[in-house]
Amino acid sequence: MSTTILAIESSCDETSASVCCDGKILSNYIANQKVHEQYGGVVPELASRAHMQNIVPVVDVALKQAGISIDNIDAFAFTQSPGLIGSLLVGSQFAKSLAFARAKPLIAVHHMQAHVLANLIPDEKPSFPFLCLTVSGGHTQIVVANSSFDLKVIGETLDDAAGEAFDKSAKLLGLPYPGGPLIDKYAKDGNPSRFTFAEPQIPGLDFSFSGLKTSILYFLQKEVKNNENFVAENLADLCASIQERIITILLKKLKKAALQTGITQLCIAGGVSANSSLRKAFAEMCEQNNWKSFIPPFEYCTDNAAMIAITAYYKFLHGDSTPLSVSASARASW
Ligand code: KG4
Ligand code: ZN
Repeated sequence: MSTTILAIESSCDETSASVCCDGKILSNYIANQKVHEQYGGVVPELASRAHMQNIVPVVDVALKQAGISIDNIDAFAFTQSPGLIGSLLVGSQFAKSLAFARAKPLIAVHHMQAHVLANLIPDEKPSFPFLCLTVSGGHTQIVVANSSFDLKVIGETLDDAAGEAFDKSAKLLGLPYPGGPLIDKYAKDGNPSRFTFAEPQIPGLDFSFSGLKTSILYFLQKEVKNNENFVAENLADLCASIQERIITILLKKLKKAALQTGITQLCIAGGVSANSSLRKAFAEMCEQNNWKSFIPPFEYCTDNAAMIAITAYYKFLHGDSTPLSVSASARASW
């Protein structure tokens, strides 16, 4: 008998729904919220309101694209934590209502675990155990995946996340939010060795990015004093150099984690894993060390419901379901 799951993701500013049948993704529809661009970051109240407007049409499109009737859904999954509480509440209440109305199991999913397990969507998957560098707007983690339900964080950021490092640096350069993809774009024409920014000295497998932001700020203040067009004249080299520093910080720790654990299957996940230079440098590092690298397709890197659906599928196989009394939670441990 087959298992068909409808999953909803609404932890931040993307409303997404996906249908998955026996681990195969049939649809993954994502509605982006443009409303935040003018504010330079996500405004939580506006995000919740946009989720309220989007949720019904988004679920409808996901079902239609999959060619599946709601009558054939065997379980309803949703992102329970972590994220913006108002945003999480919209998706969680919607999934709970569907599960209740249709008397089907409900499956709560941890957003960060789902980013890691997005690597199980493509046909060519890592085998367990694997290491995953999860880099998003709110998190930076190195995770050991011993199985689909045994995931352990062995390193994480002590302050800003890698995505924040991209977005805050972009803001200093006068670029709009989210700046990560724009740094990626402008860096393509730049020289990554032109400017050198401070590398944090953090012991173990943890990360820190707040010092980088400060060193970029002081550097720009000094240069702009001498030449007010400094940023515009050097945008590509600045983007390439900032990006290079963030990537070297990330990959140095991932390499250390691989050497320490002896794990030879390596993955990346999360919004920042959409970065073209990070993808290239990660694949090169793995090749040089004879490690196998896995990189999810772009649509499964940034926030999406397909990763919630695949995680829910493995939970379903494991016999996990969630009571209807469950609440969404802004913060959560694993
Ligand atoms: O995983 P995600 O979509 O949402 C969170 O769970 O946070 O990650 C969003 C982050 C943002 O900081 C965004 O700037 C960054 O991912 N991002 C990128 C790229 N695409 C998205 N950063 C660098 N290069 C990219 N191509
Ligand atoms: Zn995310």
